[in-house]
Amino acid sequence: MQLPSFSPSKAVIVATLCAVGLLAACGAPSIPPTATPTPPPPTATSEPTPRPEVIAAGKAAFVRIGCVACHEVKGLSDQALAAPSLDHAYQLVNDILKSPEYRKSGGKAKTPREFVIESIMQPDAYTYPTCPQGPCVKGTMPTNYKDIIRPDELNALVDYILSLGR
Ligand code: HEC
Repeated sequence: MQLPSFSPSKAVIVATLCAVGLLAACGAPSIPPTATPTPPPPTATSEPTPRPEVIAAGKAAFVRIGCVACHEVKGLSDQALAAPSLDHAYQLVNDILKSPEYRKSGGKAKTPREFVIESIMQPDAYTYPTCPQGPCVKGTMPTNYKDIIRPDELNALVDYILSLGR
């Protein structure tokens, strides 16, 4: 079906007038631009700093659940070779989030916190490429943590991981 002829330049003018609120016939009542308060942009510091005892609980969980068997963190396990070092986890996580490889993967995280939760609960959403002994192997990280980690333990674990390298 052919649409009635319509001048695009007129449409642009009408849209522009609507946008600046000059045309009464635009549908919505015209509101002066000053009436819309701009919400402050979210900042990186909007998350409260975790308490030291939460970080300590997260560290204990990291050891108890066995993350140390594969991941190096200086002072906890220095020999891990099957997985990326988490010594500078905060930096690592931020770098991964910004990478085109992550955006192309099945990962859905938008923040460092969401990313670490995803890494633990759905390790196969994204596979980090470089492990100390060569390319990381998809499926190395256990996929049953979602069944064995309690929510409070997960929160502490995430706080601990994001405290590494800050
Ligand atoms: C059997 C070895 C193994 C264990 C145990 C293990 N991981 Fe991993 N982990 C890996 C490997 C290999 C990678 C890199 C490949 C990948 O991304 O799956 C990885 C990647 C990661 C990453 C990097 C981000 C990512 O998604 O690639 C984080 C964070 C992480 N693991 C946290 C943990 C935590 C927390 C635990 C304990 C609850 C844990 N891992 C237990 C092997 C392991």
